Amino acid sequence: MQKIGSVQRVCEIFRLKIHAGELSPGEKLSSTRALASDLGVSRSTVVTVYEQLVSEGYIETAHGSRARVSLNLPHPAKAHRPSLKPIPSEQRKLSAYGRRTSALKLPVTPEIKPREINFLYGAIADEDFPRLMWRKIYNQALMKRQSSLYYAAPEGAAELRSELQGYLLRARGLSCSQEQIIIVQGAQQAIDLCARLLVEPGSEVLMEEPCYLGARLNFEAMGANVSPITVDEQGLMCDQLPNVKNALVYVTPSHQFPLGSVMSISRRRELLAWAARNRCWIIEDDYDSEFRYGLKPVQTLQSLDVDGSVIYIGTFSKTLSPQLRLGYLVLPAELVKVFRQAKQLTDRHTPSPDQLVIAQLIQSGAYERHIRRVRRANETKRAVLIEAIQKFLPKRVEVEGTASGLHIVVWLEDFQIEDEPNLIARAKAIGIGIWSITPLYSAGDKLRRKKCAGLVMGYAGLTPTEIKKGVARLAQAIQQN
Ligand SMILES: Cc1ncc(COP(=O)(O)O)c(C=O)c1O
Repeated sequence: MQKIGSVQRVCEIFRLKIHAGELSPGEKLSSTRALASDLGVSRSTVVTVYEQLVSEGYIETAHGSRARVSLNLPHPAKAHRPSLKPIPSEQRKLSAYGRRTSALKLPVTPEIKPREINFLYGAIADEDFPRLMWRKIYNQALMKRQSSLYYAAPEGAAELRSELQGYLLRARGLSCSQEQIIIVQGAQQAIDLCARLLVEPGSEVLMEEPCYLGARLNFEAMGANVSPITVDEQGLMCDQLPNVKNALVYVTPSHQFPLGSVMSISRRRELLAWAARNRCWIIEDDYDSEFRYGLKPVQTLQSLDVDGSVIYIGTFSKTLSPQLRLGYLVLPAELVKVFRQAKQLTDRHTPSPDQLVIAQLIQSGAYERHIRRVRRANETKRAVLIEAIQKFLPKRVEVEGTASGLHIVVWLEDFQIEDEPNLIARAKAIGIGIWSITPLYSAGDKLRRKKCAGLVMGYAGLTPTEIKKGVARLAQAIQQN
């Protein structure tokens, strides 16, 4: 039996000798019989080696004569050889977008260690993913026979878009046609499509300060002029919006990220009027409105919009799992075609079986029951976190943004902004993961209301016991000061 390994090895010896000039063009090679005996391999191995080298253009054979090194090979000095030193990157050209992306300081995706208590924002509890239900419905979706397997429509599965239309009306009072909905790979892809289709180098993008880094960095990669706008307890301060034409505004009105304020109805109307007057787009990122405790979620900007200014983004990252990479856009009618085309160019479409599972979950009522259960669980965790902060942390602490969502902001009034890295390192040393709010500000502390150290504390990924233990240990780290 011929060994593939030995064929590859012998081929490589010939290639290296030819590249090194040890075998020159036109030079005759040993007969297959002689080479097989020299190398101690079978003759059929040598025949395969020669055939392979002929197909690669290294050698030539003619009937009745011995194989020889190809005459058409480039001079050995110029021939390609694997080089140990890569060509310096500045000698190859990245696009302007590539250069900007390369220069950005993206946060490293943290790895959560098994015994660490990590107040990582964006994590959800493993038991909050409806695993068994998902598996059952996924199996059913997978077993459904199709006449053949071909790409699906870029806008996503009709079943999911239809179910979402009903869900958005029930849950958010948002009324849209199925055609306005495009399924995407998470809010991040929705933001990326908006950036690529609506922003160009020098475009004005107005963002809340502080804001969601995943959006800001995306707009910066596009070369946008990103300007921070202050937020207060009523959300974005619309009277501070400049009168610029054709800008884009990115907002999180249902739950300002990260501070947690809810945009008041008067501000919502003010923002919509400003956008219509200036021919601007508004991105409404409704990333966690399912987790509003007590009161019903507030009305969306999309449902108040009569001018077609609002691009609404939703995600399944908080209600199911961030690892699913599933979300959706609700677009003004005039943007549907271009977004559908860009989605097709990006990745053809979002994976279909996952979409069918969510459609089935919504249709059966299981999705909304699941949300109610997870909301109750997170309400308990939030209460435990606030109680633990009051019990263990120093008195001069202010907690912000507790009415909804899966995180809170904690201001440590006895510490300076510059103390944050030290606090984080001390907490890390005793197995506690905490996260500074500072990277979410783009303009230093200019528009920062609290000029003291601040933390964004996510709690959805932890159990109530871990939360209590984590805050008690965090208090130790703080007291080491
Ligand atoms: C403001 C905001 N938007 C969107 C997302 C979710 O993005 P994705 O759907 O890409 O997971 C997050 C997640 O952490 C967020 O904080």
